Amino acid sequence: MEFERISKFFGAHRVLVDLDLQVQPGEKVTLIGPSGSGKTTVLRLAMTLEKPTGGDIRIFGESILFDSAGKPLSTSQEARIRRRCGMVFQQFNLFPHLTVLQNLVLAPTTVLRQSKEQAENTALEYLRMVGLEGKVHAYPAQLSGGQQQRIAIARALILKPEILLLDEITSALDPELAGEVLDVVRGVAHETKVTLLIVTHEMRFAREVSDRIAVFDAGRIIEQGSPDKIFSYPECDRTRAFLQSVLNH
Ligand SMILES: Nc1ncnc2c1ncn2[C@@H]1O[C@H](COP(=O)(O)OP(=O)(O)OP(=O)(O)O)[C@@H](O)[C@H]1O
Ligand SMILES: [Mg+2]
Repeated sequence: MEFERISKFFGAHRVLVDLDLQVQPGEKVTLIGPSGSGKTTVLRLAMTLEKPTGGDIRIFGESILFDSAGKPLSTSQEARIRRRCGMVFQQFNLFPHLTVLQNLVLAPTTVLRQSKEQAENTALEYLRMVGLEGKVHAYPAQLSGGQQQRIAIARALILKPEILLLDEITSALDPELAGEVLDVVRGVAHETKVTLLIVTHEMRFAREVSDRIAVFDAGRIIEQGSPDKIFSYPECDRTRAFLQSVLNH
């Protein structure tokens, strides 16, 4: 995935400034930085939930904004690209009136047109992966926040995204439940080839799971590098100040 000179304005407010970011297939990259620095906006752009004001974004070498003639992509072209990315949000967004199993088979049976049986078998496989096979027939309200988030991760993975975008998926959770969710992501990171683009305030987790960390400040990447470099030998004063504030929190 490549962001090339991406700028983004909301009205007169400049949120991303000539952003360049590359993520290699299978790479695990984490975006950290102060609130409002533009991290979520980057993920939303990758998901085509927002359009940049300038620049181009390519996924697997293909622009997610323009066709080969330079015209904006149609809704169906966009939908095809979006299917290659999955996203999990801070709020789990499960359908409250559907059981766990029904939540998990919805997209495979409608979007991918799988048979109910096939979708249910796959759903059970992913439920095992997130350690919740006992909850197939539960409704979201009968699950803890951590369990709901693990279901949300399974729901994203079931569509076999090549890139998985995770936006502060533990920040609505108590530390213990957050730990369960992070364990699931660790498993995904180690056992699958999925490319991960993560936004998190959990610095220990970022350090453990990432191949590379990009530090955001005011719509720019101020520095990036291996977790060891960023946490042990940060170059920018801003990075040091940010890390100090979150690590002492
Ligand atoms: N839809 C929108 N309309 C107007 N302004 C927006 C919109 N979405 C984001 N912004 C602004 O863009 C800036 C960057 O927001 P973004 O959500 O990307 O930050 P962030 O780094 O994810 O912050 P946090 O760590 O608090 O989640 C903020 O100043 C925010 O207020
Ligand atoms: Mg955010």
